[in-house]
Amino acid sequence: MATTKRVYERLAPVYDLDDVMFAGAKQHWRKKIIDILDIENAKLVLDITTGTGRAAKILSKRVKNGRVIAVDISKNMLKIARMRNHGRNNLRFILCDAAHLPLKDGVFDGVSCMCGMDTVDEPGAVLSEVVRVLKNKGRFGMMYFRESKGWLRHLDAILKKYYNLIWNTGNVDIASMISDHPLRTVKKQDLLIADALVVEKCRERDSNARSSDLSLFRQRQGAPPL
Ligand SMILES: C[S@@+](CC[C@H](N)C(=O)[O-])C[C@H]1O[C@@H](n2cnc3c(N)ncnc32)[C@H](O)[C@@H]1O
Repeated sequence: MATTKRVYERLAPVYDLDDVMFAGAKQHWRKKIIDILDIENAKLVLDITTGTGRAAKILSKRVKNGRVIAVDISKNMLKIARMRNHGRNNLRFILCDAAHLPLKDGVFDGVSCMCGMDTVDEPGAVLSEVVRVLKNKGRFGMMYFRESKGWLRHLDAILKKYYNLIWNTGNVDIASMISDHPLRTVKKQDLLIADALVVEKCRERDSNARSSDLSLFRQRQGAPPL
């Protein structure tokens, strides 16, 4: 089993303690970023690296008549996400790698990724997949850890030790990866030890996908495992 997946399979039962450690700040930022996604009237929204489904829950409440797909590579994280979101009929969880989404081009109005781009093994491939599945003018919102400057470097050093020990997270320069894609920055905010970033797809690949469930998935692969 790949390291990242193995780490999160083990970490799942205690993962939500991290939100306790951040005293609600992470959840506050998930909500703020989702505000900027502007998805109230969206038909389809995707949450990648959904983990225990906290952002997915906010998304499923926000979209009035739309649906939310949430994906993760860890079965155990998804187990908790499903429990957390029991009874939310517009939300579906899928076990898959965000670097190889079994989803069609240009079907999503918005995509979110909270504390995930710094965790995935192939951030470049994940970003390409997000751009592929987004509709034109669709937005992608992220929160991710990155190197801090000034006195915060000391806090960084401590956090990094903690995260490297149990989380398998690294610093990835997402902002510079953005320029390789047809994306414009809508909002970037320094959260001291993390960044919030929302980008918008500017052109290409807007498919005329139908809205039935199966039309979301690529033909050859069929429906992915639930
Ligand atoms: C730090 S947790 C973030 C969970 C959640 N988004 C949140 O806001 O708390 C990172 C999650 O990314 C998942 N993950 C890591 N690599 C992945 C990949 N390639 N595809 C899908 N999920 C992945 C892990 O299993 C884990 O659940």
